[in-house]
Amino acid sequence: MMPDTPRQNTRPFVDFQNVWLAYNDELLAQNNFAVEDISLQVGLGEFIAIVGPSGCGKSTFMKLTTGLKMPSKGTIHVDGSPVTGPLKISGMAFQAPSLLPWRTTIDNVLLPLEIVEPYRSNFKAKRKEYEERASKLLQSVGLGGYEKNFLGSSQAACSSVRVFAVP
Ligand SMILES: Nc1ncnc2c1ncn2[C@@H]1O[C@H](COP(=O)(O)OP(=O)(O)OP(=O)(O)O)[C@@H](O)[C@H]1O
Ligand SMILES: [Mg+2]
Repeated sequence: MMPDTPRQNTRPFVDFQNVWLAYNDELLAQNNFAVEDISLQVGLGEFIAIVGPSGCGKSTFMKLTTGLKMPSKGTIHVDGSPVTGPLKISGMAFQAPSLLPWRTTIDNVLLPLEIVEPYRSNFKAKRKEYEERASKLLQSVGLGGYEKNFLGSSQAACSSVRVFAVP
């Protein structure tokens, strides 16, 4: 976290209030929670990292923040609105790269724009603009010049860049 971020007078961007999650009804009935009583706030532009042993709930926290899972108890707001479903403004780089081997590097980066609205509807018209943006992102991780290659040894970098493909 950035140490001197002024937070007290600004609305948090991510706001967890007493959030608990059991992954299903059976676990809920057993009071078996994957995460318990998370309350935290993250400011706009603030960078945080969550570190902990396997199974402590890092991925669960991300699923809750991005609306892929709804809390069993507590409330989550992002940018002032309650999270009620998957958030389009979020991107996730998975532990496994999750790339499509039959697509080139740049076409893997562009995949979210081909699938997610509102980008999907104007993808053909804006393809050049999106490609330029994707190229710059690839350059930023040392993959400049590899746009049209099929995936080689840089899959983790390509997968990370895909998170930022959506403008
Ligand atoms: N789909 C699921 N159904 C039931 N329990 C789950 C599910 N996914 C995760 N859990 C449980 O939730 C808890 C938190 O798991 P989570 O995957 O969030 O941990 P993590 O910190 O991301 O671990 P890792 O470092 O291994 O990725 C663990 O006890 C795990 O067994
Ligand atoms: Mg995890």
